[in-house]
Amino acid sequence: MSLDIAAMREAYAVADRAAPRLRANFIASLDGAATVGGRSGGIGGPDDQRLMGVLRSLADVVIVGAGTIRAEGYGALRLSDEDAEWRTDAGLAPHPPVAVVSASLDLDPAAALFAEAPVRAIVVTTERADPERRAALAEVADVFDGGADAVEATRLVGILTGLGHAQMLCEGGPHLFGTLAAADAVDELCLTLSPRLVGGAAGRILRGAPELDTRLALVHALPAGDLLFTRYARG
Ligand SMILES: NC(=O)c1ccc[n+]([C@@H]2O[C@H](COP(=O)([O-])OP(=O)(O)OC[C@H]3O[C@@H](n4cnc5c(N)ncnc54)[C@H](OP(=O)(O)O)[C@@H]3O)[C@@H](O)[C@H]2O)c1
Repeated sequence: MSLDIAAMREAYAVADRAAPRLRANFIASLDGAATVGGRSGGIGGPDDQRLMGVLRSLADVVIVGAGTIRAEGYGALRLSDEDAEWRTDAGLAPHPPVAVVSASLDLDPAAALFAEAPVRAIVVTTERADPERRAALAEVADVFDGGADAVEATRLVGILTGLGHAQMLCEGGPHLFGTLAAADAVDELCLTLSPRLVGGAAGRILRGAPELDTRLALVHALPAGDLLFTRYARG
């Protein structure tokens, strides 16, 4: 059964939009792969894309690591007309901004992600970031320092909540999720199980963190065709 958009919005709604909340959204194959052929798109499908749209429509900001931007070729983050209208009716801005996390600032300021963004993008980088790249990106985005050599989870959350973005949606990737999980900054994981066995050398959804034992509680597990949408949150 495929879920309709209104039911999905209800299933993923939060009780208090003013309370800061960091939600991560990932998809993995049945054997735990986060990618096929180097991208997550290969293990998703139309229902997974619909869930992504729903979660974006509920977010104040969408956080993405630069590796994912480069691998997936993220374009401008523009919601569908229906989602934008729903947000406006709910008293939200039509589109959430994207917040890109990068130490290298190896990002193209002319890319659609920045140049065609319906809302000015945010870039969170480090104090040691290349000054020329920083200046070029500052033309098209609001640039913040989130750490000395690497962006720290607490500083990232502080910057975004300080801008009024309490509902934070992180779309990955695995190394950024590792930073967030290692700092115990993740309030919720929306994990879609894709009905595939992938094998190979694909990585998992969480990388670069030391061994953790973070426990989350199941909020729901909703079948959508052969996909399973799970929602786990802090207990
Ligand atoms: N299955 C899924 O749901 C899913 C979701 C997202 C992505 N993916 C896949 O994951 C792969 C990319 O993996 P990834 O781990 O490289 O993604 P990533 O975490 O988005 O990218 C890593 C890069 O992001 C920046 N970054 C992350 N954490 C940082 C921190 N704490 N401080 C400063 N910069 C930080 C750095 O960029 P700079 O190099 O610019 O410094 C780093 O090299 C792609 O194949 C993508 O398709 C899968």
